[in-house]
Amino acid sequence: MARETWATRVGFVLAAVGSAVGLGNIWQFPFKTAEFGGATFLVVYLVAALSVGLPAILAEFVVGRRSKRNVVDAFGALGHPGWTLVGVVGLFSGFWILSYYSVVGGWVLRYVAGSATGAYFGDPAAYFAGIAAGTDALALHGAFMAIVVGVVALGVEDGIERATKLMVPSIVVVLLALALWAVTLPGAGAGYAYYLAPDLDELFANLGELVPYAVGQAFFSLSLGMGAMITYASYLDGDDSLARDGLAVVLFNTSVGVLAGFVVFPLLFAQGVSPDQSGPGAVFVGLATAFSELPAGRLLGVAFFVVVLVAALSSAISLLEVAVSYVIDNHDAGRAPTALGLGASIFLLGVPSSLDLAWFEWFDALTYNLYLPLSVLLVLAFVGWVLGGDALDEVRKGTSGDGFAALAWLWTVRVVVLLAVVGTLALGLQSLVLDGAIAPPF
Ligand code: PFF
Repeated sequence: MARETWATRVGFVLAAVGSAVGLGNIWQFPFKTAEFGGATFLVVYLVAALSVGLPAILAEFVVGRRSKRNVVDAFGALGHPGWTLVGVVGLFSGFWILSYYSVVGGWVLRYVAGSATGAYFGDPAAYFAGIAAGTDALALHGAFMAIVVGVVALGVEDGIERATKLMVPSIVVVLLALALWAVTLPGAGAGYAYYLAPDLDELFANLGELVPYAVGQAFFSLSLGMGAMITYASYLDGDDSLARDGLAVVLFNTSVGVLAGFVVFPLLFAQGVSPDQSGPGAVFVGLATAFSELPAGRLLGVAFFVVVLVAALSSAISLLEVAVSYVIDNHDAGRAPTALGLGASIFLLGVPSSLDLAWFEWFDALTYNLYLPLSVLLVLAFVGWVLGGDALDEVRKGTSGDGFAALAWLWTVRVVVLLAVVGTLALGLQSLVLDGAIAPPF
């Protein structure tokens, strides 16, 4: 059977944006920005996204489009079967992350309903504590995975492309509307000040922690290291400029993170809610408190959590597609049963995370500190030092000029980006060991 492709280039870009824009943007990004000194961190993040994130996403696009294979077989198809293990690491990481990402997806589902009925209005903190882990969380994790399976089962063009073409614009429209509305809130000014006023002392005091964070966040946020961008680019036909698409995804993704801050902070400050809460419940408890005190809070709560849900779904879809693509490229298996079988396995892997937050945090810690940087490192080393000239050739397609920019990209990948990832990985391992987080929480 012929391999599927995107119907349009815009469809590919929107699907890639859909993968990138997710929980990472709407929750982590604004909170971290505020924690690390506001506007100044935004600048550091932007530099990281453009100088490290963009070359890295381009590297994954090259592997995908040039091989037109799934993440595991891509390396062999490019003539380097010895590197297949890199793809296996990516595939495994994708399985791993989706298993607990989906648990958060389940919480979001619950908050859409809870906003509509006002269920959390009495005591938002107790509400979160009550729903975060246990059989309810398990059931909702299952419901979230079921939706993801449904979209992926429909295929690249009819499922993923069609769904994300609708999802991505709706995320932007609703976030924009919420951000504009937030301007009108009395007390919103304190939120903007917190978010945007540069705090240089804070910035310099935390520089050692901040730079690796900005780099790691750029990877997670751009869906790198999980095979997602490799897989999506493998469905590309034609010879358009990959750099242009990569730039579009990076700018779009960063803008949505920034925009989310323009919703979150005025809302919190207008209601006198402190943004200093941390842990997986921050966005849920903080914003739920704000919604429970606002006029029309139910409606706003539904609008906000639907956006978070859509963003989480379009990211989760890309993760499941990584594994589905591998199976259907290699076996005579139908897409729908494959999506169902793999979705069920990922659901099972997520059961401990849905029942006990200690497991959830262990999965998350290993993702950020180990799998993600390791997997990105291996892909970049491959593209920079092994694929080399072939990668240049792929990047030069669809561009005019003497190709100097492509050469600059290759050397950026070989040196700058590789060093940045090695640093991130070293710090990640250090924190895993120091926190004793490497062992599972039995
Ligand atoms: N980029 C997504 C986010 O920011 O929430 C998370 C993600 C999706 C990471 C897909 C990795 C991935 F392959």
